[in-house]
Amino acid sequence: MHEDIHLAMLELDARVLDVPWLWKHTYHFRHPEDINFILSKDGQLFAKSQRVAQSQEFLGQGLFSQLDSPKHAAMRQTLNPAFRMEYLKQLDKFFVSSATQLADILQEAAAAGPAAASSSSSSSSSSGGRALDFQRMFRLMTLDSIGLTSMQHDFAALSTWQQQQQQQQQGAADGSEPTVLIERTLQHLSKAFVWQSLCLPVPRAWLPGYSDYIAACNRLDSIVAQILMQRRATSADTSSSSSSSSSSSSSSSSGGSSSSSGSSRSSRDIVGYLLLAQQQQGPDVISDAAIGDEVKTMMFAGSDTSSFTLAMLAHYLALHPAAADRAAAEVAALLQDTGRGRDVSQLRAEDAAQLPFVTACVNETLRLSPAGPAITRTACQDVEVAGYPVRKGQDIVANMYAMQRHPEIWPQPDAWLPQRWLPEGVEQGLAPKAKNAFLPFSTGARSCIGRSYAMLQMVLTVAVLLGRGIRFGVDGGSRELRLVKGLSMYAEDGVWLVPTVV
Ligand code: HEM
Repeated sequence: MHEDIHLAMLELDARVLDVPWLWKHTYHFRHPEDINFILSKDGQLFAKSQRVAQSQEFLGQGLFSQLDSPKHAAMRQTLNPAFRMEYLKQLDKFFVSSATQLADILQEAAAAGPAAASSSSSSSSSSGGRALDFQRMFRLMTLDSIGLTSMQHDFAALSTWQQQQQQQQQGAADGSEPTVLIERTLQHLSKAFVWQSLCLPVPRAWLPGYSDYIAACNRLDSIVAQILMQRRATSADTSSSSSSSSSSSSSSSSGGSSSSSGSSRSSRDIVGYLLLAQQQQGPDVISDAAIGDEVKTMMFAGSDTSSFTLAMLAHYLALHPAAADRAAAEVAALLQDTGRGRDVSQLRAEDAAQLPFVTACVNETLRLSPAGPAITRTACQDVEVAGYPVRKGQDIVANMYAMQRHPEIWPQPDAWLPQRWLPEGVEQGLAPKAKNAFLPFSTGARSCIGRSYAMLQMVLTVAVLLGRGIRFGVDGGSRELRLVKGLSMYAEDGVWLVPTVV
């Protein structure tokens, strides 16, 4: 595996790395004590870096990109209830149904064998099956879920992809890559962000793909405006007609529709809380633009991170088939013991806590391949960290990637060993030798608000796929796994694997 992030660091000492970039050198802290110190002082000694401001052009002032601490804290308070476990538990059926839809697609691809595939998201593999880009497939799935669970909107990303794929196989399409508008738009922006965040001393219009980037910014704004317009119309419908809970289902520029299944739930999702807060506090405190910014933020933060993690997990399971079988056996035993036979569609939120090995596989993937590998902060005043002087205004990095592979903390640091998260691994001496050295969702005031959402979705998704007999085979093709850090970490050329069914 090619990991630029891993190779680009010079070691200063066991705690600190130095990363040269153009004329600047940046300290990267990798010891848990230092990282926990830095992140716990968010909003006091340190602030989110100005580099994040580059993302404001398309995310606006949403939770992730908001640099003003009091405004951030107020919005976080507004949104916290939508991420409480008691509410998230009600979302399990959406996670399970999106994963089931993906399982159908994978099963079909596995059965299709070495079909000639013309698009860049599927190709025939030398091992005989049809290889798919799992990062893309999971991205479509997570987009569908974030739409249904947080904004009552059905992006229909997986089914759009499926329809286009079928049309191609029947020769009814021109053979070009299936396009799901919302996914393409987010991808354009993520890729362009890599260039923007390099802060190169050239006019931005000279950067590669700049005009595509501006077009994608505008497209995203109009998709979000349409989602909010539909949502408001639905809320007005439901409040004026208490007898009917179904929503109208008109098509939108995102390729999806307002979700009738979503509207039958209460309005206590992310957009619901935002609209309620706007009613209570007034549009001068929570403007329409602010609501749109949070919607865009959730689309990015809630899809790219989880889809990358799930794709990397599939990659590790392809390399460790015995672990895939063990996780599948755990799911089968749980369903059997609770009288549900083999019906994975009945998996529910409470089951996640009964799947320790599946959870360990997710955790070990988050350790080796954190979607947020390096968190940049700017010092608000002169300060010393681990004996190194940091001046006011200087950027420093909490390097999660390096901490979670620190050789003095993690036995066999580069090996994917899910058992290290279980009592058996502790007995084998695989547990970390320091506290708080595993922070894939960060910590402190700017930590991930979607942590429980993501964990629930990932555990249930893996359980559904493995429970349906899906396994992952290494793609015999020539594609290299190349990891790049943009807004979050992603595989530049995808994560190509061959689905099989046992
Ligand atoms: C595997 C999945 C995920 C990982 C590894 C992850 C990781 C992270 C990390 C490391 C941060 C801190 C970034 C920083 O301080 O610069 C963060 C922030 C954030 N995440 Fe996640 N995340 C995941 C999934 C999600 C999901 C599913 C959502 C929403 C549904 C979400 C929403 C957010 C938001 C809004 C922030 C900004 C929080 C703030 O500044 O208050 N994330 N995430």
